[in-house]
Amino acid sequence: MIDPFGRSVSYLRVSVTDRCDLRCVYCMAEDMSFLPKADILSLEELERLCTAFVRKGVRRIRLTGGEPLVRRNIMSLVDGLGRLVQTGQLDELTLTSNGTQLAKYADGLAKAGVRRINISLDTLDADKFAAVTRWGRLDQVLEGIMAAKRAGLAIKINTVALRGVNDTEYDRLMEWCGQHGFDLCLIETMPMGEIHADRMEQYLPLSDVRAGLARHWTLTDTDYRTGGPARYMQVAETGRRVGFITPMTHNFCESCNRVRITCTGTLFMCLGQDDAVDLRAPLRSSEADINLDQAIDNAIARKPKGHDFIIDRQTGPAVSRHMSVTGG
Ligand code: GTP
Ligand code: 5AD
Ligand code: SF4
Repeated sequence: MIDPFGRSVSYLRVSVTDRCDLRCVYCMAEDMSFLPKADILSLEELERLCTAFVRKGVRRIRLTGGEPLVRRNIMSLVDGLGRLVQTGQLDELTLTSNGTQLAKYADGLAKAGVRRINISLDTLDADKFAAVTRWGRLDQVLEGIMAAKRAGLAIKINTVALRGVNDTEYDRLMEWCGQHGFDLCLIETMPMGEIHADRMEQYLPLSDVRAGLARHWTLTDTDYRTGGPARYMQVAETGRRVGFITPMTHNFCESCNRVRITCTGTLFMCLGQDDAVDLRAPLRSSEADINLDQAIDNAIARKPKGHDFIIDRQTGPAVSRHMSVTGG
């Protein structure tokens, strides 16, 4: 699949549920109204959608949410997609998770063919963790992370940089990730959903964070890439990597390789745009995939050049939906 800007779309992010057991302040409102079950695709339908994308050239799939592991029977989808990895039709099946359910699922994920997982963790301070997630328990997440480590999954910790919340903790997170053999990925907060004044005040450009880290750590550029937007540096003292995702200060859209489907079968061609295409109707219109394939082709032809995110109190968010609709 080649988009109008010559970019090859080979990476599909699949939000399997809009629900989450946490409510990170930058991702969801406290009182979210969730989709009625009738609107949500079955796991079999999601697998059929994924298979259609794989047939069209997708080589990597990442399951997201909300929180992917709160979807009932999620392992049936993971096992099904894992078989695509085992038969060489897919290069990689991964997840982005908040970690709360990993103690239960880590072994099963590894058995299904998942090799690495990205886990959100913004702070190692239990009180701050409870505040950012609105009620999350840090010990539960740390237990999940350690279960994933024991299961042999490679782990990347995702930390959204938040001024006044975790800006004194990056050295500690680097050290902790180094001790446990995890990569760390720092992320600029993106203005999606309703943005309150505190979200704008919390925005922190990663150039500042990187300069702070460089005072205590020896960072060198590396060519290491995962197919995602992060640019990585090697940390000499820990032997691990630190990644920087900079949608606000350093746009990476020219190398975008991805599209996103939601649990209702809506395809978003860009994280930072509202334009979307419904794939549920063509999916359900026929057992054959001809309508679906056509709808996918039409959508890829509409993929925009890039996002319109800006942090600006006057203009409000460029994207009205919450991050949890597509899971990043
Ligand atoms: P890998 O590179 O495969 O490890 O994953 P990833 O970094 O692409 O995925 P992850 O779910 O861990 O997302 C990390 C952060 O990157 C989240 O804040 C996502 O919203 C953000 N992100 C991922 N893809 C894009 C993208 O295409 N555009 C923008 N603006 N942000 C993205
Ligand atoms: N800006 C940047 N990253 C975000 N995430 C969730 N909401 C935002 C936001 N507004 C991150 C989560 C998770 C990943 C899927 O996206 O921390 O790691
Ligand atoms: Fe849930 Fe993850 Fe969003 Fe936090 S970032 S509210 S854990 S989906």
